[in-house]
Amino acid sequence: MSKQINLSQRARDIEPFQVMDILAQGKALQAQGRDIIHLEIGEPDFLTPQPIIDAAVASLKQGDTFYTPSLGLMALREKIAEWYQQQYQLTISPRRIVVTPGASGALLLAIGALLEAGKHLLMTDPGYPCNRHFARFVEASAVAVPVNAESDYQLTPEHIEQYWNQNTQLALVATPSNPTGSILDKARLQALANAVRSKQGVLVVDEIYHGLNYDGTHLPSALEVDDNTIVINSFSKFFGMTGWRLGWLVIPESLEPAIERLAQNLFLAAPTTAQYAALAAFEQRSLDILEQRRQAFEKRRDTLLPALTALGFEFPVTPQGAFYLYADCSKLLNDKVTDSMQLSRYLLNEAGVAITPGQDFGHYQAAHHLRFAYTTEVSRLLTAAERIETALQKLR
Ligand SMILES: Cc1ncc(COP(=O)(O)O)c(C=O)c1O
Repeated sequence: MSKQINLSQRARDIEPFQVMDILAQGKALQAQGRDIIHLEIGEPDFLTPQPIIDAAVASLKQGDTFYTPSLGLMALREKIAEWYQQQYQLTISPRRIVVTPGASGALLLAIGALLEAGKHLLMTDPGYPCNRHFARFVEASAVAVPVNAESDYQLTPEHIEQYWNQNTQLALVATPSNPTGSILDKARLQALANAVRSKQGVLVVDEIYHGLNYDGTHLPSALEVDDNTIVINSFSKFFGMTGWRLGWLVIPESLEPAIERLAQNLFLAAPTTAQYAALAAFEQRSLDILEQRRQAFEKRRDTLLPALTALGFEFPVTPQGAFYLYADCSKLLNDKVTDSMQLSRYLLNEAGVAITPGQDFGHYQAAHHLRFAYTTEVSRLLTAAERIETALQKLR
């Protein structure tokens, strides 16, 4: 028997995802021969575009197997800077761009560099759960601000006024958001940036779902409204590169030496092959593939949203980005299934549809919400809706 090893308090405080439970149950059902439709997974179902894969293979054949500089390949930092010019008409010095192991690495660097032990980070509830664990990891804490449809599930200047105190240092938002797919338009980003600046705080904006926005709207980067915001981004979602572990951070130039020291010590550098591969992500032939996929996601949203609405799920605001629908399931609960956790278990067993319970994204109204990820094709989404309908009828 292995010896009992004492864990640190911080390791004990970090919670698992409920969705892993659902995933494991789904896999067990699949092993019994059941057909499970996976709407719980937050990653695109598309393979990485071929030009990106080809660039990776070519770099390996060429012998690019060594560490890159800690802040990333300069050629990639320059390409990302050009992307800001092209997408947002922003001139950003490549020196302000730091290539990281995923947005996860970018979040850890930003929070590690800016959040003091014992201090607070404001974030939304519901929100991306790892953020509060990053805060915990640096011996600080996240203050979860309950948000609902009234503010499009985003932080507002009023929230900043209400929740900011002498211990607060950072506010963190994601636009489009996980789990709600809601976005911040330019005016609301500007108002939020002003509110945080008035508190001498720092605004961190997670733009990992940029590129996946619908309805023909221009999605503004936070850098359009305030050059001092810290922007998080990634190759995982829009570029379809989850497994490559590559993201980036845009910082004010004054932070570069500190972030470089942290990056050197925490990771040395982001994965080399992924960085060479990502150079091809901005080529037109990759962008054409990615645009087709964006349109496919939009079609999926436009299929699943009305289908679920017809079944009694409610969406007080239309999600405008990412690939998530955050559904209020209050009307479907009864004495047989009393909360969203039970409903997700029921729908997995009864309908073979895996969905993430709201509890994974916080506490506020979590028992009344589920997150559907439309990371599967339209025909499967329609089958999922049919099966959910049959299963819900049995509950009445
Ligand atoms: C809002 C948000 N931020 C960051 C991440 C981390 O992404 P990655 O490390 O793959 O770039 C995710 C992943 O789902 C996310 O949803």
